[in-house]
Amino acid sequence: MKALTWHGKHDIRCESVPDPQIEEGRDAIIKVTACAICGSDLHLYNGIMPDMHSGDIMGHETMGEVVEVGKDNKKLKVGDRVVVPFTISCGECFFCKRGFFSGCERSNPDPSKAKKLWGSSPAGLFGYTHLLGGYSGGQAEYLRVPYADVGPIKVPEGLTDEQVLFLSDIFPTGYMAADFCNIQPGDTIAIWGCGPVGQMAIKSAFILGAERVIAIDTVPERLALAERSGAITLDYMDKDIYDRIMELTNGRGADACIDAVGTESDPSASWDARLDRIKVATFMGTDRPHVLRQAIHCCRNFGTVSIVGVYGGFLDKIPMGSAINRGLTFKMAQTPVQHYLPILMDRIQNGEIDPSFIITHTGSLEDGPDLYKTFLEKKDGCIKVALKP
Ligand SMILES: NC(=O)c1ccc[n+]([C@@H]2O[C@H](COP(=O)([O-])OP(=O)(O)OC[C@H]3O[C@@H](n4cnc5c(N)ncnc54)[C@H](O)[C@@H]3O)[C@@H](O)[C@H]2O)c1
Ligand SMILES: [Zn+2]
Ligand SMILES: [Zn+2]
Repeated sequence: MKALTWHGKHDIRCESVPDPQIEEGRDAIIKVTACAICGSDLHLYNGIMPDMHSGDIMGHETMGEVVEVGKDNKKLKVGDRVVVPFTISCGECFFCKRGFFSGCERSNPDPSKAKKLWGSSPAGLFGYTHLLGGYSGGQAEYLRVPYADVGPIKVPEGLTDEQVLFLSDIFPTGYMAADFCNIQPGDTIAIWGCGPVGQMAIKSAFILGAERVIAIDTVPERLALAERSGAITLDYMDKDIYDRIMELTNGRGADACIDAVGTESDPSASWDARLDRIKVATFMGTDRPHVLRQAIHCCRNFGTVSIVGVYGGFLDKIPMGSAINRGLTFKMAQTPVQHYLPILMDRIQNGEIDPSFIITHTGSLEDGPDLYKTFLEKKDGCIKVALKP
């Protein structure tokens, strides 16, 4: 089959690779009908996540048709149309039973490296390094889905691939980011990053009852899309974000702040962002948490900082003094996608949201390597890429 494979920094290739096979009784094989490139794939593309191997198959936003099921899989049958969560979860362990699917303690077959780095291992992920299981990803013609009687959700009649594809990751992630904020009537939610995750967080914050959303980025078409969703937009290159948020909230700060940027924040945003870049380049630091620092300062006393942008290691100069003295709550996670799937499928079905609004670029797997570059460089108005193998 054809698949997009990783060969080092900025080197994604469309290659022929062996077809996946059923390996365990609960597996299924999916013929991929649509997949997408995620902001998290850019961390691999930029070579900042450890333990990718040359030839690894990329991709964790995938859907398609079931073409084979293992002997113990009682949930799926050949011909089912499903969306596959990016998190691989057994459904039976301590964490899965409590709904913390992205904390599954069985789906990473070699948790030792993650334990060394993070204390414990989270769930295995599709196409996301050997630290997190070394599973082949779904930017391919076929995908092997382990524990396929837990993760995939069947797609009801009448919904297009584009409407449901983002249930695999960015819609639940943006929704979780807003859910973490415990939104009350009258609340103002500030969101850093108007990429795909930020855009889903904006829509979700309004769905969950926010009165105002303040959306921060610098890319004009991303700010314009945020505005079309009803957000007040701020360009971090021409406004002091802290001052503007204080002006907009009577000097109090936002009720909750969402970091939908993570470790690759724009180094030109401020002096501390530039310093982060230098520290990482000289191995004096692992991450670039400028946005997290700003989100903490812009959050009102006893507000919530919700972190869905990904960080990898040890974050430097986080203003914990500000956070503890002002009673902030921090919430963060790799999304336990399965937990959110039923309610979000309902919200799509009843017309509250059509997540396809985000797609600006489509192509085949052969177009994949070029579209990675376009997405990274935010060229040609690119906000989200969907691929049709
Ligand atoms: N927690 C999860 O489960 C989960 C799931 C999906 C994605 N993510 C993470 O979410 C983050 C965003 O993903 P995406 O797909 O939207 O990626 P993206 O790279 O397309 O979007 C990031 C956006 O942040 C903006 N930005 C950069 N610096 C900024 C700053 N200083 N202030 C405000 N905005 C700034 C960029 O211009 C860009 O529009 C990534 O870190 C990704 O890894 C996490
Ligand atoms: Zn993702
Ligand atoms: Zn589990």
